[in-house]
Parts: sequence; C-alpha cells; structure tokens
Amino acid sequence: MAEHVCPFWVGYLLLSPFRRLLENPDKILGQFVREEMIVLEPGCGMGYFTLPLARMVGPQGRVIAVEVQQKMLSALGRRAEKAGLLDRIDLRQATDGGFGLDDLSDKVDFAAALHMVHEVPDQSSFFTEVLNVLKPGGKLLVIEPKGHVSQDRFAQTVATAEKTGFRSDSLYGKAGGRRALLSKP
Ligand SMILES: C[S@@+](CC[C@H](N)C(=O)[O-])C[C@H]1O[C@@H](n2cnc3c(N)ncnc32)[C@H](O)[C@@H]1O
Repeated sequence: MAEHVCPFWVGYLLLSPFRRLLENPDKILGQFVREEMIVLEPGCGMGYFTLPLARMVGPQGRVIAVEVQQKMLSALGRRAEKAGLLDRIDLRQATDGGFGLDDLSDKVDFAAALHMVHEVPDQSSFFTEVLNVLKPGGKLLVIEPKGHVSQDRFAQTVATAEKTGFRSDSLYGKAGGRRALLSKP
C-alpha cells in the first residue's frame, strides 16, 4: 500500500515516555473524545495514542486501529492486552484495497491521523475513505511531523482533504503548524 512506511523499529522509539513532554495524548485528543464514542485511528503504529484513546472512550466505546504493518498491530495487541484494554480496540490491517471499513459508513464520531498521512501514497483515496465512515459533523484531526513535512506540503494535504469534501477549521492550530481539524459537513 504505502511506498515508504515508518520502519518497524521506529515504532518502539515512538512509544518513548519522553514523547509525552512534546505530545501529550490527553491534551491533544481529550478535547474531542468522549465515553462511548467510536474513534478511528489509521496508522496507529504500536499505539502511542491508541491506548489513551481506548481509556477515553471507556468500556462502551470502541477504537478502530488500522495499520498497514502487521508487526505494528501485533505489538499494539500485546500492549493493549497487558493494559486490559484489548476489548475496546478493533485491530485491522490495511490492504491495497484500503482500510476495509465498509461496515462503518457514517458511524465514526472522531478520527485521528497522527504522523501518518505523509506515508499514504494516495491521499485523495485516504480522505475519501475516512470521510465515508465519519458521521455528519464528525471530525478528523490530522497532525504531521514538521521534520518530514514542509509547510507547503501540509497545505497541499489540507487542500486534498477539502477537495474530497472535508471542511477545514481555519481557527484550529498555530499558523505555520502541521495540525488541521477537518470536519464532515
Ligand atoms: C510515523 S508512524 C506513526 C505511528 C503513530 N500514529 C504515532 O504517532 O505514534 C506512521 C504509521 O502509519 C502506518 N501507515 C503508513 N501508511 C499507512 C496506510 N496507508 N494505512 C495504514 N497505516 C499506514 C505505518 O505503518 C506506521 O506505523
């Protein structure tokens, strides 16, 4: 599916506790996620954000964690089991045909694509698929890494999302940053 994906071993680095100093999952995601929600997290890696999301949605909620690399998903599965959160997380492997989310049309409350969109070869198809599963009014948070994604490239990504039908919240995020909050009209 992807031409360049984050190497498996980088998945371990992304779990570093020091990352919380720069990217605290509760601060970033807590404002969007409530108990009982269905949350989609494409490109979840080993689950730096997935386990906090699973805590936020509570026992009646669900996190749909989609990964192109089976090894990342397996590591996430082990971590979720150890944390007692596996029953709230639906682990799915992405394929060349997409994320396999046909059962979720208009059902997802919130989606978070965190440090992954720059690895997706066909961003238009990606945004179309996410748009399809969100409820009307549902939001997609996109965060990209400054080190890999220039400001221009990020602006192109947001423009691609808008072309597929997303609306971009211009008040969200710092000017020149790599964060966008998109919503399904
Ligand atoms: C840089 S890692 C970020 C992982 C996690 N979101 C985080 O912030 O810790 C990007 C992840 O996206 C996954 N990925 C890349 N392209 C993908 C695609 N088309 N579908 C699903 N996952 C993808 C990679 O395998 C990798 O685990």
